[in-house]
Order: sequence, then structure tokens, then C-alpha cells
Amino acid sequence: MQTDTVFTFGDISIQLQLHPMVWAPTAFAQNIASHLAKLIKPGDQVLELGLGSGVLAILAAKLGAKLVTGLDINQQAIALSQYNWHNNGLEMVKTDFRCSNLLQALGSADIGRFDLIFSNPPVLPEFECFTQEQNSRNDFEISGRDGRTVLDTMLSQSSTYLKPDGHLLTIATSLQGWRETESMLNTHWHQWETRQMISMELTDECTQPYIDFWQQREREDGQKRVYLQNGRQLHDIWFLQAKHPR
Ligand SMILES: C[S@@+](CC[C@H](N)C(=O)[O-])C[C@H]1O[C@@H](n2cnc3c(N)ncnc32)[C@H](O)[C@@H]1O
Repeated sequence: MQTDTVFTFGDISIQLQLHPMVWAPTAFAQNIASHLAKLIKPGDQVLELGLGSGVLAILAAKLGAKLVTGLDINQQAIALSQYNWHNNGLEMVKTDFRCSNLLQALGSADIGRFDLIFSNPPVLPEFECFTQEQNSRNDFEISGRDGRTVLDTMLSQSSTYLKPDGHLLTIATSLQGWRETESMLNTHWHQWETRQMISMELTDECTQPYIDFWQQREREDGQKRVYLQNGRQLHDIWFLQAKHPR
């Protein structure tokens, strides 16, 4: 077994092989882990949109989920998640990883199926000069205007796939514009809450052209997206939970 890194949460250790074309876990995964641990109940059926290395799907299984469905647009992420799943001795837990743009690979059998749907979504905005080619793992982090496509899909479509008492857990950042996120939550969910809000330093994929874009958007609509503190570029992060609207 090849292991490039170990992700730990409490007494859970997850051995991970990484791949240059697949997102490697960052502080976002570390932070959402504690929310997953509070929301997942033994026997739950869960869905993750945006598997990456599979780290959070594997964590969900180790926290007691009995069926873990995972989606990612990146075929290499599906293969890596399957590899990491088996290397962590999870043969007893049912898994179903599908290559999918957004939720498109879900079908009628998935409607009303999940206790929890979660995501650590990509946040980079798409520029006009964007080519469809993916030459690095960061290219899979580009997610439409304002970096909102995956987040908006989670907020507007995932309730179809939740059980009546199911929950959504997702991350949103000020980079995507908070007003739009709040409006989507109010439109699509009867009940939602911010479980945690923190500031974090921009991660490496947030290069200068993106920072220029966020500062320009800030001048356009007055929403704070990124700010300098003690020489570090920070943004605000929300860990959001919402309940099925029925
Ligand atoms: C920030 S990474 C999170 C990976 C992993 N869950 C973690 O926490 O480390 C976002 C993931 O979403 C995937 N992704 C991006 N756009 C997508 C889309 N349109 N449909 C499905 N997955 C997408 C990327 O390939 C990437 O693996």
C-alpha cells in the first residue's frame, strides 16, 4: 500500500495516496470534519459532491455511515477515491462513486435517499478566457461566475435527494459573495444555520489574477471578499447546515 499523507481526526487515521491532478486535503477538510462528526449517525446514507482524494467520504464511513455515495467531475478523483477507500479497509461499507458534473449522475433511485448531503465545493471564478482543458488540479476548482456553480447546485438542487428529515452541510466563502449565498439559503430552505464562521488565509490556488478579480467584484457590489491582515490575505468561511424544506 502506498501512502502519501495521513489525515487524522480524533482517533481516526485515514491513509491517503495523492495524485497531481486531484485536490489534496487542506484546512477546509480538517474544519468540516468536526461538523460531519456531529451530524453523521450510525447507519446513515450520505452523499458527497466533490470527492477529491475521497478523504471526507472515507471519514463519513469511519464515522458510521452505512452507504457513501460520492460524485466528482474529475475521473482521476473517482479512481483515487476508490483506491483510498479500499486501502482504508472499508470493504464492509457500501460505496458508490460516480463521475458526475454536479448532481447529474444521480437518478430517480436517489431521490429522497440521503440522510446527509455534504460538500467542500470549489470556489475559483471562471474568467472569459477560460478554456475547457484541465491541465492541473486547480483547473477543477474553477466553478462558474463568482465560483458559485457547485455551491449553488448544492443549495438549489440537493434537497430533492434528501430524506424528509435529512440535512445539507456545505462550506461557503466570502470570495463567492455572501449576499447571494444568504439569498439562496432563504429561497430554497425552510431552516438553515451557520454552524461556524472563521477567517482563513487564501490557499495556494488563489493566485494574483483571482485576487484582482475578487477586489474588482468588491468594488462593484460592495461585498467584502478578501482582506489583508498582518500581511496575510484572508477570507471569511461559513460552515452551513440546512434542513429539508418539506
Ligand atoms: C475543494 S475540492 C474538495 C475535495 C475533497 N472533498 C476535500 O475536502 O479535500 C472540490 C472537488 O470538487 C470537484 N468538482 C469541481 N467541479 C465539479 C463539478 N462541476 N461537479 C462535480 N465535482 C466537481 C473537484 O474535482 C474537486 O475534487
